[in-house]
Amino acid sequence: MKTAVKDVSKESIAQAATLIQAGQLVAFPTETVYGLGADALNPTAVLQIFAAKNRPADNPLIVHIADVSELPRLVDAIPPLAQKLIDAFWPGPLSIVFKKSAIVPAQTTAGLATVVIRLPAHPDAIQLIHAAGTPIAAPSANQSGNVSPTTAQHVQEELNGVIPLILDGGDIEFGLESTIIDCTSPQPLLLRPGSITQEQLEKVVGPVGAPDETEKPASPGMKYKHYSPKTPVVLFTKPENLQAALVAHPRRSCVIHHSKALAGSGEVSVPLSHNPTHAAAALYRALRQADTLHCDVIYVETFPKTGVGVAIMNRLEKAASHVIG
Ligand code: TXA
Ligand code: MG
Repeated sequence: MKTAVKDVSKESIAQAATLIQAGQLVAFPTETVYGLGADALNPTAVLQIFAAKNRPADNPLIVHIADVSELPRLVDAIPPLAQKLIDAFWPGPLSIVFKKSAIVPAQTTAGLATVVIRLPAHPDAIQLIHAAGTPIAAPSANQSGNVSPTTAQHVQEELNGVIPLILDGGDIEFGLESTIIDCTSPQPLLLRPGSITQEQLEKVVGPVGAPDETEKPASPGMKYKHYSPKTPVVLFTKPENLQAALVAHPRRSCVIHHSKALAGSGEVSVPLSHNPTHAAAALYRALRQADTLHCDVIYVETFPKTGVGVAIMNRLEKAASHVIG
């Protein structure tokens, strides 16, 4: 299959909407990462997402809507806490777990009785969902386990020849997948940290807990190794530990850092902003760039686990083989 990459325009949105209606796949920008979309209510279309990404069949999809008015028919009920979150954060990078209604196919939710819904803030995504006239199921537009794409070019690297169309909406704003929160039980649970932080959520709904992962994972996707470049990733916290590792293991090293003092470390160094929000937006691009440099190892400087730093570290710890402190 030939994959077309088109700038977002009235014509390309119309073409994308026609493809979605015909049960095909389209990659499109959101404010978090690029998504790989299909008609969320068409089981055959949804199964194609799993095939294109090599996604394990037990990993459910997020359903994207263009307007809050589309929510009631997809869910069994809207709990009061979920309504507060919707009022505070939609449209935006927050995905909410609901008990699903009968019209959401089991293929979309991987057999779960719940469905995760998100109203994205990206105008291109909104236009596409409106034009398609159906909710769009969309995981990140990468091969399962790889780093999520934050440009149309990244999507091409992942899915060229596998899908008919990539909508190019330029760079994205946040660069980390949406925060996922479960409000189906009395205590809200944070299933995946993201750019909307725990502190922001708690201001709206009070204390937010962590899921008990000892039995079965509350968010099936979180159990898989994720966000991984092909080159081994090693995290470091203290610049002196990096320097010691570079001396102890001389090999071709790429250093992704936010401390200015580390500029020029290793064979290649990739600077990130010290500001976690800005660093998050550039993180996946940096990991992909590092992966093209044919290094033996990618060292990444850790961020403090506060605010958006929690989400950055969640992704980095899944990408990394170990931490040298
Ligand atoms: O920012 C985002 O959320 C992006 C853009 C495209 O919207 N999408 C995204 O999708 O990150 P994906 O498939 O890469 O991650 C979805 C996560 C997975 O960890 C999945 O297991 C979890 O959401 N999930 C989906 N449905 C669920 C459900 N009913 N209950 C618990 N977790 C669920
Ligand atoms: Mg993903």
